[in-house]
Amino acid sequence: VSVSTVLQAYLQLEGEGLVETRPQSGHYVRSRERELPLEPLPTRPAPAPRPVTVSALVREVYAAARDPKVVPFGSSQLDPSLVPTARLGRAVSRLVREQPALTVQYDLPPGSPVLRQALARRSVTWGHALSPDDFVLTAGASEAVHLALLAVARPGDTVAIESPAYYGTLQCMEALGLKALEIPSHPRDGVQLDALEAALGRTKIAAVLLVPNFSNPLGSLMPDEAKEKLVGLLARHEVPLIEDDVYGDLHHGAHRPRVVQSFDRKGLVLLCGSFSKTLAAGYRVGWVAPGRYLERVELLKFAQSVATPTVLPLAIAELLRTGGYDRHLRSLRRHLAAQVLQVGSAIKRHFPEGTRVSRPQGGCLLWVELPGKADALQLFARARRERIGLVPGPLFSAQGRYANCLRLSCGFKLDARSEAALARLGQLAAMR
Ligand SMILES: Cc1ncc(COP(=O)(O)O)c(C=O)c1O
Repeated sequence: VSVSTVLQAYLQLEGEGLVETRPQSGHYVRSRERELPLEPLPTRPAPAPRPVTVSALVREVYAAARDPKVVPFGSSQLDPSLVPTARLGRAVSRLVREQPALTVQYDLPPGSPVLRQALARRSVTWGHALSPDDFVLTAGASEAVHLALLAVARPGDTVAIESPAYYGTLQCMEALGLKALEIPSHPRDGVQLDALEAALGRTKIAAVLLVPNFSNPLGSLMPDEAKEKLVGLLARHEVPLIEDDVYGDLHHGAHRPRVVQSFDRKGLVLLCGSFSKTLAAGYRVGWVAPGRYLERVELLKFAQSVATPTVLPLAIAELLRTGGYDRHLRSLRRHLAAQVLQVGSAIKRHFPEGTRVSRPQGGCLLWVELPGKADALQLFARARRERIGLVPGPLFSAQGRYANCLRLSCGFKLDARSEAALARLGQLAAMR
């Protein structure tokens, strides 16, 4: 068809409310609110620090996710068909061919200047202007968060986190002997600042650890005003913030949200990120921009694992340099936004009446709250026998909360098998 026919069609669809235009981004299918279940309510964890004991359960969940035949609603990973695997592969082979000596050398901390330069350039899109010297490269965001926690907290200290919170971080806190103080959070706006302020007045807190942009599992996004307020609040109390921004590039709307660190003037924010959620989790390429803790984090990185792999960060840097990363992100975001909507509306069709589901504005995760006295651990065991992946709610709390909740990942393309798996999950969820 001709371009003018396509434009005419878009105009008509827009007129009927079926698509919407987002400036400088394109046309998007409008979310049909009526086809989505109700949203979960804000959470209300107990206001006392607790030791963390999630490890045994985490092991069960990742063991289940390793099964290659499982329908992958349990793991926060991308469908490989959504990733420019061939381009990355070509970059890796070229580096090995052209710079063989370099590829077998240690890449000592702070890590590849080429990737740090590329990250500094990208930081402008985070509302920031970091320099290459602000970064230390790490093995994924997990190592970044681990080093950040080591830099600011000692065993027995209390760290405030949003509730529910990513189980990998909880597991890291468990390994470091830290206590978790869970702060009430809203499924859209994230951590509730009044509750955090009250906690800071009541309890000695060594650090706050948050995922302000599209948290895991709620998918919440802190508005800019809240980010600025948070920085002011923490500056008054001289408490550092570990900001995990692994999902920041996966906004479904037109604009990349700012990082909290872009409001910080005191160097109190340790910004962590990686390419695991946007490109290649298996490359294990991440970073931390640790603010005033830079030197300490760099030393800790050396003490912990000496160096990062040499070739893979360079392959990613090449994709960033040539503009391939931005093109890839545009298409990835469109896919993820559509997949999140598809899974949300399948839940409305197949899950028990009264099920609630989050409405993330970015990322690829859905938080599902089942009605009544549902038992997500039992559902996890039943679904595992049928090779359907999910993560049960209690993993996301140090207080064993969220027994009636689960997290579903929408990073994989839906096909007939995964559609049928969602319908079956709905049936299993209705069993008591
Ligand atoms: C919030 C959050 N932080 C960190 C990670 C781990 O990231 P990486 O694979 O880069 O270590 C994940 C992975 O699921 C995550 O959801």
